[in-house]
Amino acid sequence: MNVINKLGPIGAEVQSIDLAQPLSQVTVSQIRQAWLAHGFLVFRDQRLSPKAQAAFARRWGEIDTYPFMQPVAEDPHVIPIIKEADATLNFGGDWHTDTSYKATPPQATMLYAVEVPPMGGDTLFADATRAFEDLSPAFQAMLEGLTGVYTPKMVHGQGGGYRDVSAKAQLGDAYGGNSEFAESEVLHPIIRTHPETGRKSIYCSRPHTHRIDGWTRAESKGLIAFLTEHLTQEQYVTRLDWRQGTLAIWDNRCLFHNALNDYQGHRRHMHRVIIRGDRPV
Ligand code: SIN
Repeated sequence: MNVINKLGPIGAEVQSIDLAQPLSQVTVSQIRQAWLAHGFLVFRDQRLSPKAQAAFARRWGEIDTYPFMQPVAEDPHVIPIIKEADATLNFGGDWHTDTSYKATPPQATMLYAVEVPPMGGDTLFADATRAFEDLSPAFQAMLEGLTGVYTPKMVHGQGGGYRDVSAKAQLGDAYGGNSEFAESEVLHPIIRTHPETGRKSIYCSRPHTHRIDGWTRAESKGLIAFLTEHLTQEQYVTRLDWRQGTLAIWDNRCLFHNALNDYQGHRRHMHRVIIRGDRPV
């Protein structure tokens, strides 16, 4: 097995592996076990074409489609995430899990750094499982009885942060409206149970959970704000500094992430693939 170094409260770096080469099933299974244990894995110094990234993603599971972005020309499953030097808005710049507003949100996200700014542009990851486990039993029990109304509308819908003309221009040619889906709502628990580890974690998020089912939006915002503040305390958070050629895979069922927007005047270019998951329970 390759050497694995912990990066912080969560996350680990896997050394000496070339993901563009064919990998045995044993190696893929070992990597997956390490991923389940650490929450996210980082592989440095990779040289992955979109086709090679998609091929590695397929070893993880069935590739999912992202409803708001057009793929790169080289592969229909790889989404470009680009912030140009003159843009001010970044993609994914608040604490969230990816596309939790889908009926079956992705189990994993694979992000590959094509071009990074000279400084900044890191991504923060938070362990929503330990954060849940550290809450009092009475508060945990109350949370476990709650269902959230999840929706893309606060980001991609009418009046959402990515919707106005300037935001669309900044997100680039690949950004697509998908306006009907952008207003959709789906019910998921606000605490979900991981289908592989059986552990519970906080799942509701500021950008994707509009309200707690049966609560007002104001009441819901208060609870979601508290949970976000709780799970993003430093004992749960690891900071990933991207370098060109870094690939990270995170478990989207139990980790939150936040892409920092602190590199104005510089370009950042990533390639993203998401892997199909289960309906949260
Ligand atoms: C995302 O939220 O998937 C993007 C994260 C990043 O660009 O670091």
